[in-house]
Amino acid sequence: MCGIIGYVGGRDVPSVLLGGLWRLEYRGYDSSGIAVISNSELVVRKVPGKLSELEELIKRKHVSGTIGIGHTRWATHGLPQENNTHPLVDCNEEIALVVNGIIENYLALKDELEAKGHIFRSLTDSEVIVHLIEENRSRGLAEAVKLAVKKLTGNFAFAVISINDRNKLVCARHDAPLICCYNSKEAAVASDISGVISIFDEVIYIPNDSIVVLQKGKCIITNFQGRTIKAPVHQVTIDVQDIDKGRFPHFMLKEIYEQPKVLHSIVSERIAGDGIRLGSELGISDAELKKVSRIVIQACGTSWHAGLIGKYIIEKFARIHTEVDISSEFRYRDAVFDSDTLVMAISQSGETADTIAGLREAKVKFLKALSLVNVLQSSIHRESDGIIEIMAGPEIGVASTKAYTAEIVNLHFLALYLGLLRGFVSRADLAEHLAALEELPGQVEQVIKLDSEIREIAKIFCNSRDFLFLGRGLNYATALEGALKLKEISYINATGYAAGEMKHGPIAMIDNKMPIVCVNPRTSVYEKMLNNIQEAVARKGIPISIVTRGDRRTRGISAYSVSIPECHECVSPVLSVIPLQLLAYHIATLKGLDVDRPRNLAKSVTVE
Ligand code: M6R
Repeated sequence: MCGIIGYVGGRDVPSVLLGGLWRLEYRGYDSSGIAVISNSELVVRKVPGKLSELEELIKRKHVSGTIGIGHTRWATHGLPQENNTHPLVDCNEEIALVVNGIIENYLALKDELEAKGHIFRSLTDSEVIVHLIEENRSRGLAEAVKLAVKKLTGNFAFAVISINDRNKLVCARHDAPLICCYNSKEAAVASDISGVISIFDEVIYIPNDSIVVLQKGKCIITNFQGRTIKAPVHQVTIDVQDIDKGRFPHFMLKEIYEQPKVLHSIVSERIAGDGIRLGSELGISDAELKKVSRIVIQACGTSWHAGLIGKYIIEKFARIHTEVDISSEFRYRDAVFDSDTLVMAISQSGETADTIAGLREAKVKFLKALSLVNVLQSSIHRESDGIIEIMAGPEIGVASTKAYTAEIVNLHFLALYLGLLRGFVSRADLAEHLAALEELPGQVEQVIKLDSEIREIAKIFCNSRDFLFLGRGLNYATALEGALKLKEISYINATGYAAGEMKHGPIAMIDNKMPIVCVNPRTSVYEKMLNNIQEAVARKGIPISIVTRGDRRTRGISAYSVSIPECHECVSPVLSVIPLQLLAYHIATLKGLDVDRPRNLAKSVTVE
């Protein structure tokens, strides 16, 4: 989960590489570097630490040239220190390489290469690639790359330049994302479109298991066996502004504030007259959907939380037995399926390694796979039988916010669609739900207006050491998500729990210093949740409750509360999570933390 970029052309190469790296930084940010061929010499600039430090270094020690590569790293093998920072070079410092991925057989390859006299300078798994290329450098860069990839196991996307082939950018991908662009004057490669968005308006999603040789006006794609492949050219549909912070101090806050707009577009797109439109890429017929007897949702992190809500609503509306698995568990658990099982991956990025592996597990077993995915043309998009587009727009903040609420709303539409097909949802039920969904964007806007009120609560608790988050029913997932948001950006120990389970253990943690976020909008489990809050109060815990406007009972027993509008139970997880996103955001910023670049994390987890 690193960001890679390469460029050949007439612009100032270091500026192009740096510009791209800033936009790819969300993929990893513990060290960064560039390599440029300058007057037949390979010049490398790299630093551990933030990208701003690389920028400073390049200002101090400028380099010019017409071809270069760049990298922003999320360390897997080897600490974020200079020798492990990419670009990595061969023994003679003639070839430079940037990689995203993991080379699983690197130890064996390293032994082999060291026995042949290669000198390794880093502890990375990736360095073997540059030495493998060096081994065959006399055959030309493209051929050397072709021979190198044959020896690699794992997943990778890389770009390489060489002073002996100085007009060519050679790249390869196997199970890690990579795109390229070219025109008569210039060409580029990057982990995703954001790296090159300001330069090109057309993009090629490099097919899996292929090698690309890029030059000005030329792009030759071959598979690993050397056969030429044609890949379609797509129009770039995202705009620089979509991936810009605009007036906001952080992407996370911008994305929280974008939720009314995002949800409005989803609702407008999905409601078709008095029916539901799930999009043109569903890939599974109504007849096939009618036959589905079981759904297995598999996802990670925030997307897994959305899946938990999906289970509740799919079972409720469509009466289909639904399981939700964490992808890293699902892929190894040898689950029992029957031929009418539908597997659903949920993923914002579409590149999460464990979720892709779970999807492949389903395909090996000949199961139909319908995925919810935000990034179009991502691996999960391409490998699923069909998709429902999440439609959240580009999400850059490492802490997922708008993708989560967009996932929930799409699952709501899917559940209703299946319910209608199977005859469990009547036209009157549907009308009631569609009305609730249509009202939702406006209600989310009202909750966002409570931002400053929530910041005041954040001020009181920003120095707390631990937090407990409790919820029930649909809002059990809200409690998990609230806790995840807080811990990932503020590093506060936060535990999310099903409130009814509290007395089976976590209640022991409660004392008069423990803030307990209690998610209790008016739902079918309202009274039960109220009892759980009472139990926490009796142990001197400090309840901060999310309540429905006008709910005096929960307010009455809570130390602090935030009121959300009256809503249908099924949309309550969307409205309840917004105050928790804002609470986490404000606590982290009050602590002076970098919410868009939380430590140890990266936006897409493309390694196992
Ligand atoms: O791109 P995905 O939805 O597959 O990502 C899954 C998780 O890595 C992601 O949700 C992660 O938990 C976020 N940092 C949560 O904010």
